Amino acid sequence: MKRLAILVSGRGSNFEAIARNIREGRLEAEIAAVVANNPEAQALETARGLGLNAISLPSKGIDTDTYARIVVDALAPLEIDLVCLAGFMRRVGQPLLEAYPMRILNIHPSLLPAFPGLHVQQQALDYGAKWSGCTVHFVDAGMDTGPIVAQAAVPVEDTDTAETLAARILVEEHKLFSQAIAVVLGGRYRLEGRRVVRV
Ligand code: GRF
Repeated sequence: MKRLAILVSGRGSNFEAIARNIREGRLEAEIAAVVANNPEAQALETARGLGLNAISLPSKGIDTDTYARIVVDALAPLEIDLVCLAGFMRRVGQPLLEAYPMRILNIHPSLLPAFPGLHVQQQALDYGAKWSGCTVHFVDAGMDTGPIVAQAAVPVEDTDTAETLAARILVEEHKLFSQAIAVVLGGRYRLEGRRVVRV
């Protein structure tokens, strides 16, 4: 069974969706660790409640590469196949990128390359986009720049607020992330330049 590490910072609904998809047979994998950089993360409690290996590794005051080394050391004994960033709000440092080359996925709540970074739904509304959505991509050294594995689109309604748009996108995130994880774990892709092509 392929082993996932899920990195979180907060609510953890994407982590919960992955756990549910595994439990209900839609994704073949096991969650070997849920790592939170924020000791207050709701996701940690949820993970403990599900009997999972919940690891609190506070990142406050620690620089990006030092923190990445801490995460690498914590994950090393767990034989992780894929690292999934599910609402993980820190940059990923070089040691982590080097330990898991093309084996770190992130989910981002926009159709990249539109609207990277933070306050993403508000960015989409302010820009006047008529469609938004979510993107699962490999993580590289940039900010939301790695090769795209999968995307799902949702319409932006005239009456939307950042909150209503986020909620519409989140429904798609909860399906898309597990689908993309399955593609990557199954090796059902090859990289052509920065295009992830299904095989
Ligand atoms: C999601 O919208 C995710 O795309 C973004 O942060 C949010 C995390 O939500 N990176 P949750 O913690 O998974 O509920």
